[in-house]
This record gives sequence, structure tokens and C-alpha cells, in this order.
Amino acid sequence: MKEKINAFLKDVMTLAVVCYQFGDTGKGKLVDLFSSWADIIARGTGGANAGHTICLRGKEYIFNLLPSGILKDSEGKLNIMGSGMVISLIKLSRELRLVHENGYTTNNLKISHRAKLVLPFHIIVDRLKELSLCKGDKIGTTGKGITPAYLSHYAREGVVMNDLLNPDIFVEKVRKMANEAIEMASKAKRDDFFKIMVSPDLDNGIFYHPKKLIDVDMVIKKYLGYAKDIARYICDTDSIMRNSVGKSKILLEGAQGVLLSIDYGTYPYVTSSDSSAEGLAKGVGLKHSDIDLELGLIKGFYMTRVGCGPFTSEAGGEESAELCNNVFKPEEFRREEEAIIEKFFKNGNSVSELMVGRLLRISGGEYGATTKRPRRIGWLDLPLLRYVMEVTGNKNLVLTKLDVLNVLNQIGGEPLRVCYKYRYEGEKPYNYGEVIVKKGQVIKVAIPDPKFLEQCEPIYDSFEVWSEDISKIDSSDHLPINLKILLIYLKRETGANIRILSVGREADQTIFM
Ligand code: IMP
Repeated sequence: MKEKINAFLKDVMTLAVVCYQFGDTGKGKLVDLFSSWADIIARGTGGANAGHTICLRGKEYIFNLLPSGILKDSEGKLNIMGSGMVISLIKLSRELRLVHENGYTTNNLKISHRAKLVLPFHIIVDRLKELSLCKGDKIGTTGKGITPAYLSHYAREGVVMNDLLNPDIFVEKVRKMANEAIEMASKAKRDDFFKIMVSPDLDNGIFYHPKKLIDVDMVIKKYLGYAKDIARYICDTDSIMRNSVGKSKILLEGAQGVLLSIDYGTYPYVTSSDSSAEGLAKGVGLKHSDIDLELGLIKGFYMTRVGCGPFTSEAGGEESAELCNNVFKPEEFRREEEAIIEKFFKNGNSVSELMVGRLLRISGGEYGATTKRPRRIGWLDLPLLRYVMEVTGNKNLVLTKLDVLNVLNQIGGEPLRVCYKYRYEGEKPYNYGEVIVKKGQVIKVAIPDPKFLEQCEPIYDSFEVWSEDISKIDSSDHLPINLKILLIYLKRETGANIRILSVGREADQTIFM
């Protein structure tokens, strides 16, 4: 595998791996694979809203903050948490403990002195705000304090890692910041507030104060305590990165996906950072032009979305969105869904679109790594993909999770559908700059406005799925004909340059094209 990777990345020094959909396209596996090639592994956007699973020596580790190369620290690899990240010290200290308790080191971890801190107030405000929104206005955030933390930054009121090295400055800033959260807490229902306060993300209730509601002194005490452990990692990572371009092999690890980017995504149903390669480069102190190769990940012929927001090609449409967005006990939901599928196979019922979605969800393990929420399932949406390829200017794609589609065969060769264009069905014309879209008009490149997307009908092409087990194929020459047809179709429809196929979870289930 090492030789294959080296050959694939022959002239590359800086590689960016970014999702081109709504996140969760199996970046973890790819980044893990490339981390054996890289000298530096860097994250530059988001925070604990992301999640990746690393399997090593038979054990699974889920990290939300630490870069994917962290378990290779003893090999001398630099893991960098860039200035564009928002970091909760509660979470970070837990992840560091997990790493150390399992016998791994973090001697080469570096955290940007300008990375933004997620404080307990941000998590409280994120969750209270989401609770206060009416059903149609909810975003379905991960509740990790991401938007409030970026808001503090852009409101010029944020606290950064470097402040931890100067306790007086830290205390002054934290005291100023607490007010908004305390005010919101005083207006919230006691029960809701209490449930939020006792969550593990808020250290199981230690910041709760029966009279003041939030114990600001405890926040300060705890964070300055964590600071003692992490101070040694804090430094100017931007200058390390700038000085390493062209000299060291750099792997930039994306978080979320371009369709969730604050700048390019289906705003407002997005996260609060720019999750494109451009945002990622900036978040680690580099320029987009420093990237030699950008790999855009998409799932192989299906798609997922977590939380609210438009999903034109959703299998089961609104019924699916309702089902997935009203889950309060995710683990229970998953067990129930598994039982439904088992019963379905026994009884051989007819297959609804919603059921196809459920099958793909179970087969692909499509439940959030961070929140455990069921992911909404849909078909590959080419208008959205064309849009992403247009704004990123990149054609290099990786298709992941292709093995998951085999489940369509188990239910009697259900066709695979690909949405290749939309028909606009809005009664009122939609104005997009100088373009006016009228009812009945066919669209090939998506406009990322939810108000527009909600009024579009997907138009599908149907394909037969291969019956062969592709999980053991190691060369593109041996792909089943039905998969080859789909790849040709994808190239023709989007101009994509398909570089890698992932046909299973293991490293060697990767086909370089
Ligand atoms: P936030 O990033 O927690 O503010 O959530 C904003 C939106 O982005 C919500 O719809 C989340 O479900 C979605 N989101 C955030 N991070 C991820 C991710 O890593 N994978 C998939 N969706 C995400």
C-alpha cells in the first residue's frame, strides 16, 4: 500500500482532502491512509462538530478535535491544530487523556496560539438557541458551541489559545463573555437548561450554579487548570506551516463538507466555517495556491445529510427528513431501525423509497460519529456536485463507500438512481443575480439557496447495480461492468477526474485510478 500511495502522490508535497457533499463521506479512512505518507497532518476549520474514527491495533478511537495523524506521533509526525479551529478544552483534554492512557505520545502536537476557544457559554448558547427556534427554523446543529464561538471571534470578543498563557487577560475576557449566556439561561425553561448543563460536553454539571445559573469562577478555574496541561503545545503554527511548504509532505485534513461551508454551502443550513480547501488552507496559515493536489470526496452514488436543510434527492423526501430530525434517543432509534430491516427481509415487503433509504443507512452505518443521529439518505445529486466543482475549480474526485450499494441487490436489484438535473417548480420566478429561473425550467448546476432548492424536483437516471462483491477488487481493470458504466456516466456528466475508489473500510480496499 505504501508504494501505491507514494506512486499516487509522486509530485505532491501539499495534499488537501475535503468532502464535496454534506460531510461524512469517509474522510477518516482516506486521511488515515495518507497520514502514513505525510510529515505534517493539519486541521484548520471547525471543532468538535467533526468526528473521525481511527482503527489501530484492533481498537477504534473516535476523535473530534485531534488531527488524524495523532496516533503516529512517535514516528515524528507533526500534528497541527490550526488557527481557524474552534476548540473546547473539556473535549481536548479528554481526547489527550484517551491518547495517553492507550500508551501513545503527543510530543509533536502543536496548537495554534490563535485558535479560538469554545467556552462552556458557547455550548450553552448553541443549545438554548436551537431549542428556542420554531421547527422550520431549526438548523439541527451538533450542539458543540461552534457558531457562538465563531460569532465571538467575528464580534471581536473571542478568547484565543494564547490568552491561556496570560491568565489576567484570559480572566478579564471570560468575565465579559459570560453575560449573554447567563441572560439566555435566566429566560430558558429550568428543565431544558438543567439538561444542557449536565451533559458530558459541559463536564457533567460542574458549571451549574443554583443561584447564578452559570458558575463563571468554575469556568475560569477549570480552563486555567487545563491550560497547565496544554500550554506546552501552544505556538505559532502558521509560521511552521508557511516554512514547511515545499519542504515537508503536508496533509490538510478537511472537516464537514463544501455544501456545509458558510461561504459556499446551502446557507443558512451550514456550519460556521469555510469547509472548502480554501478555508482549510487559510485555517492553517497557508494559501489555496500552496495546495498541489485537492481530493474532493463524494459517496459512491448515494448521499447523506445530518440535521435540517434542503436535500432535493432525499429518498423518501420529507418523510425521511421528519423521521431523522425528530430522533431524541439516537441509539434506540438505530436498534429499532435494525429490527425493522430484519422484519422486512423476513416478510419480503415491497420496497418504498423510505425503506431504500433505511437499508442504505443500515448498510452504510450512516449514524453520526459525533451525535449518533441517523443521517438522512438520498441519491447522488449531480447539480450540487457540478456546483461544488465549479466553485472549487477542482475535478479530482474520490468515490467512497461503493461497497454499500450491494444492499440494493439483496432486495431484488432495486435500481440505483442518480439525480442529474432539476426542474424548477416554483410558481414565482426565482432571481439569481442576472439569471431568472421560471417554472418548468431545467437546471443542471444547482443554486445553493434552500428557498430555491425546496422548489426543485429531482430528475433521475436509473442504473442497474452490480451483483459482484467489489470489496476485494484491487484494480480498476476488474471492476464490474455496471460500475464501469456508472463511472463513465459520472465523468461525462461532470467532467470529473475520478482518482480513487474506496470499496471497504480497510486501507487495502482502496483502488487508485
Ligand atoms: P454546527 O456545525 O454544529 O453548527 O451544525 C451546523 C450544521 O452542520 C448542522 O446541520 C450539522 O448537522 C452539520 N454538521 C456539522 N458538522 C458536521 C459533520 O462533521 N458532518 C455532517 N454534518 C455536520
